[in-house]
Amino acid sequence: MFEDIDSNSTKVLNEILKARRTVRAFSATPLDEKDVELIVKAGLIAPFASIPAKGKTDFRRIFIVTSGSETMKLMISIINHGMSTFVAEMSGRVDVQSAAGRINGKSGITQLLGNAPYLIIAAERKGYPPTYLADQSISLSYCMYNMWLKAVSLKIGFRLITLFVHGKMGNNEEFCQLLGLPCREFAVDACAIGYPAENFVPPKVNYPDYETNVKWLCK
Ligand SMILES: Cc1cc2nc3c(=O)[nH]c(=O)nc-3n(C[C@H](O)[C@H](O)[C@H](O)COP(=O)(O)O)c2cc1C
Repeated sequence: MFEDIDSNSTKVLNEILKARRTVRAFSATPLDEKDVELIVKAGLIAPFASIPAKGKTDFRRIFIVTSGSETMKLMISIINHGMSTFVAEMSGRVDVQSAAGRINGKSGITQLLGNAPYLIIAAERKGYPPTYLADQSISLSYCMYNMWLKAVSLKIGFRLITLFVHGKMGNNEEFCQLLGLPCREFAVDACAIGYPAENFVPPKVNYPDYETNVKWLCK
């Protein structure tokens, strides 16, 4: 089953894994639509939880929204409204307040998008029975990560926009209507993609080191 994998594959994958950083400022240089298509196709082949998908061919839907489009403008106003309700419900939680501050700030959600030319929204059909409620979120993470790695392989920057998860946008009537998605049947996640801004340098991150954080339990 691994016929197409050769000794160079793991080296290339390693390079991509190391280069995978969150990009938070994007260049105005437009992307080739073919590249956007390749990124989205990588998301479609990510693993999925089989129970929500059973008997369905549309268990994962992807929407590409261009910055400055009428759809984007409408979406921003829906999100701003949806988030203020959400923030009111969750008041007192520091993390939520900081997200709210960023949305309500001067540049609003465009700041969250880092001026990216494209917003990609992925929607995954929710699981049933309720014991499997987390499945759609897990599947969405794999979908996002496949798109992230594919974007890096094309030298395209990627930023998760988890606000769509926190705001439970899949349960928002107006938002779902805009996408043509049945409300409450799908969970939603999103990311921004575009070439990194010329002056963008990812901050230094201390990932957990192997020596301290990995334990082999073989005995
Ligand atoms: C569940 C999850 C949610 C995240 N949400 C966001 C987000 O909304 N916006 C953002 O800029 N980064 C987000 N990130 C990216 C993390 O902040 C980032 O991966 C981490 O700081 C490590 O940096 P790196 O991606 O450059 O390695 C998220 C990451 C994860 C795993």
